Amino acid sequence: FHVVHITAEMAPHAKVGGLGDVVTGLGRACLSRGHNVEIMLPFYECLPADAVEDLRHERDFECPKGRTWDGQFEMSTLRTQVFTGKIEGCPVILIRPDWNNANTNLFRGSRIYGGSYNEAEAYLYFCRACLEYLRESGRRPDVLHVHEWQASAVPMLFWDAPARFAPDMPNTRVVMTIHNMDSSGECRQDEFAATGVSGELFSTIDKALDERTIGHNPERLCLLKGGIVYSNAVTTVSPNYAHETLQGGAAGWLRSTLAAPDVQAKYSGVLNGIDTIFWDPASDPFLAACYDATRQEGKALCKRFLQEGLGLSVDPSKPLVAVVSRLVPQKGIHLIEHAVHRTVEMGGQFVVLGTGHADGGLRGLAGGQYRDNPDVQMRFTYSEALAHQIFAAADLLLVPSLFEPCGLTQMIALRYGTVPVVRSTGGLADTVKDVDNYQGNDMQPNGFVFDGIDAGSLNSALDRAIRTFKQRPEWWAQLRGRIMADADRWSWDTAAGSYVDIYRQVSQL
Ligand code: ADP
Ligand code: GLC
Repeated sequence: FHVVHITAEMAPHAKVGGLGDVVTGLGRACLSRGHNVEIMLPFYECLPADAVEDLRHERDFECPKGRTWDGQFEMSTLRTQVFTGKIEGCPVILIRPDWNNANTNLFRGSRIYGGSYNEAEAYLYFCRACLEYLRESGRRPDVLHVHEWQASAVPMLFWDAPARFAPDMPNTRVVMTIHNMDSSGECRQDEFAATGVSGELFSTIDKALDERTIGHNPERLCLLKGGIVYSNAVTTVSPNYAHETLQGGAAGWLRSTLAAPDVQAKYSGVLNGIDTIFWDPASDPFLAACYDATRQEGKALCKRFLQEGLGLSVDPSKPLVAVVSRLVPQKGIHLIEHAVHRTVEMGGQFVVLGTGHADGGLRGLAGGQYRDNPDVQMRFTYSEALAHQIFAAADLLLVPSLFEPCGLTQMIALRYGTVPVVRSTGGLADTVKDVDNYQGNDMQPNGFVFDGIDAGSLNSALDRAIRTFKQRPEWWAQLRGRIMADADRWSWDTAAGSYVDIYRQVSQL
């Protein structure tokens, strides 16, 4: 298949969270299966040019782009630059406005999200520019694989706008993957003009779907909903999250869209994988010492290196609990805060690496009560190197999310012989089975699981984990060996196979 991904993130250089990992991991897995894969993403100003191998300025073109002025839709164009190259061996097509010759700051700034421009406008323009370039360059992909609300305008423009692209690419189908329903990308009707198409068209579509959508804001267009309706297949990132979005409240008011029979028929959950080459304790260049399931000594050295490096007391016998996460409400911040206290009370050490707007309470602990405590260290920054070093050094990785579409860190932890302690939700429930309470037989139990969102519930898992680490070191070493030996199960190989099946199904439509 010729698959073109359209995405806002790509690991490792244009990554904020797991979306970036998924695009790169799935792309590389499909490439190694012999498919032709290209990844289109904005050429953010913060994406270092030397991060792209064989970078080539391919062409400039005038991309149609509109605006609504005094209630009237006005059409113009934005000078757009296209670059090609490779990131992590994967062909990329990078799109940006020509900042020197066009009066715009879209995609400028030192961060991927949260710049000083309007994000809806930026990604709506990006979607149009991707389609324009694909058409002009003569590409006829079998599949456009679009991710999240940022790429949701692609299926809408592809099938159902005056500028329709489908007739020029008659065999192309659109697959959409939703990584997080919490972010559904609303825009005002007039903002949709950034695609070069008046929003009126989409609002008619939106109204036609109203009977399926309880409680949404009629003043705004929900881009994710448009993507869902207009794609040939829709996936989300774990089977359990797919179930929660249909049966529970995980999709919010989008549930009624997903539950409509025609949508449900094309909707499924495919468990993410991890890139087992990038995440490999046996060859990880960020580590002080490498190790694997059969030679575990290196893990102890990694722990020592991290304890020394962060200024923790150096003590192999203290259970080291880690959190590597965006610090946003989804991630169960109050439970992380509680776990800091509990771990220290029980004689363990706690490390946090994370960034996000909900970091206040943790910053308060780091700068206050635990300021000079040799058992607690927190780093409020984004660091790939430190993330690898923490996954390798820690004994336990805590993921107490309130909801979690898939979650990658628990799978990375398993690969590094670090035992996950997770809340039973979304993809966490698909990937971590409790060592004391698991009755199924589809997987070997591999971690500690709790259900509730209160401190007592967290304790029920964390206490057992810390006690077991301290009291049963030999059993722990066996568990560690087993979860590492079993970690191939999390590689992209399986998941890539599921996506290829979906590509095949939509090609036959
Ligand atoms: P989400 O996508 O919701 O953030 P995931 O578990 O799917 O959660 O993916 C998170 C990814 O981001 C993992 O690869 C994790 O290692 C990485 N990550 C999160 N925070 C940081 C950080 N501060 N520094 C480095 N990597 C981070
Ligand atoms: C989202 C979800 C996370 C998932 C990731 C990659 O950011 O929050 O659970 O693993 O996307 O699909």
